[in-house]
Amino acid sequence: MIRLNNNYLKLQGNYLFSDILARVKKFTEENPSLKVIKLGIGDVTEPLTPCVIKGLKNAVDEMGRHESFHGYRSDQGYEFLIEQINNMDFKTRGINLKDDEIFITTGAKEDTANIQELFANDIKVAITDPVYPVYLDTNIMAGRAGNLNNGRYDKILYLECTEENNYSPLIPKQRVDLIYLCFPNNPTGKVLNKKQLAEWVKYAKENKSLILFDAAYEAFIKEDDIPHSIFEIEGAKEVAVEFRSLSKTAGFTGTRCAYTIIPKQVMIYDDNGNAHSLNKLWNRRQSTKFNGVAYIIQKGAYHVFTESGRLEVNKLIDYYLGNAKIIKQGLLSLNIKSSGGINSPYIWFKTPSGLSSWDFFSILLAQSNVVGTPGVGFGKCGEGYFRLSAFGKREDVEEAVKRFSSLKF
Ligand code: MLT
Repeated sequence: MIRLNNNYLKLQGNYLFSDILARVKKFTEENPSLKVIKLGIGDVTEPLTPCVIKGLKNAVDEMGRHESFHGYRSDQGYEFLIEQINNMDFKTRGINLKDDEIFITTGAKEDTANIQELFANDIKVAITDPVYPVYLDTNIMAGRAGNLNNGRYDKILYLECTEENNYSPLIPKQRVDLIYLCFPNNPTGKVLNKKQLAEWVKYAKENKSLILFDAAYEAFIKEDDIPHSIFEIEGAKEVAVEFRSLSKTAGFTGTRCAYTIIPKQVMIYDDNGNAHSLNKLWNRRQSTKFNGVAYIIQKGAYHVFTESGRLEVNKLIDYYLGNAKIIKQGLLSLNIKSSGGINSPYIWFKTPSGLSSWDFFSILLAQSNVVGTPGVGFGKCGEGYFRLSAFGKREDVEEAVKRFSSLKF
C-alpha cells in the first residue's frame, strides 16, 4: 500500500495564493462583465526589457547552431552570469564573494522551500508572523512544525511583527537553530537597518544558528542605511544564506531565474558536533536533484547585470514604486494609514471598521472588483490586516484607487 507523508495532513487548507485564485475565478465566472483588477499576488505586469529580450533572442539563435548549441551544463549556473552578478550586486557594495558561492536557480520560492531538507528534523525553527507562507509550509511538510493549536504550530517559534513593534521581529530570548528573515518584508513592506540586522547576525553567531535571508525585494530599497544584502553586515558570511530573485526585479516571474548565495564559511553540524560546509552540501543536493536553469534564460538574465540592463530594470522598479505611492495616497484619503510601499512593492494596512481580513477581501472584491491578499493568510498576526501589491498597470492602479472611494463597510 502506498502510504502518505502524514505531515501533509497537517497543512492548513490550500496554499494561500491558490485559494485566492479559486475565489477570484468563481467571482469572474459569476460576473463576466466586470473588470477585476488584481493587486493580490505579487505578479509583475510590465514586459521584459529590451536588453533582456535581445539576450534571449540571441541565445535562441545560438541554440539552433551546432557550434553554439548547449546541452546539460553545470547545475550551479553559467560562469558568465555568476561573474556578472558577483561584480554588479556584491563587489559594488564591498562584499567579497567567490563565484562558487553563488548558485543560479529558478526561484527564491523554490530555494527557500528546498534548503530546509538539509537540516535535521528536530531543529528549532523561527519564522516571523506574518510570514511568506512557503517558509512555514515546507517545514510542516518536513515534520518540523509539530501540531496546530489555536492557529499556531507548537514546535515553531513565531516572531511577532505587529504595529506595536513597528513590524520588526524581536531577537528571541531562547535559542533557535534556523531563522527565516525576509527584508524588505513580504507582506508588511518593512525594512531593517544595518544596526537591526547586525543584532540578528550577532544572535546567530552566539547560538550557532543559521539565518535564511530572503532578499527577493532588495531592488526596491530606495532609502540609505538600509542594507541590500545581509553580507553587508560583518560576520554574516559565517551564519547566513541569501536568496535573490529576478522575478520582481526584472519581470522574471514567468521566465524564472534567481540566485542563492551560500558562503563557504557557513557550517552545519552533524550529531557529533562536527562541522560541514553548507555550500558543499547544497551543491551536492543541487547536482542530484536539479539540472540548472536553461541556457537561454541565463543569457537573458545576464543583461540585467549590465549597465544598460540595470538602467532598464531600475525604470521598472520606479514604475511599481510609483504605483505604490498612488495606492498609499488612495488609502490615506479613506483615512487608512499603511506601512510599506516605500522600499517595497507591498502596502500593508489594518482593515477598516475592524473587519476580518477575509471579510475585507470579499467586500473589496464585490464592491470595487479589486483583488488583494488577506493578511491572515500570512499568519495569526495578520488577522485584521490586508496587503495590496503595487504590481499592476498604472491605469489599473489608478482605476482601483478611484473605486476605493465608493467602498462601504
Ligand atoms: C507574493 O505575492 O507574496 C509573492 O508573489 C509570492 C511569490 O513570490 O511566490
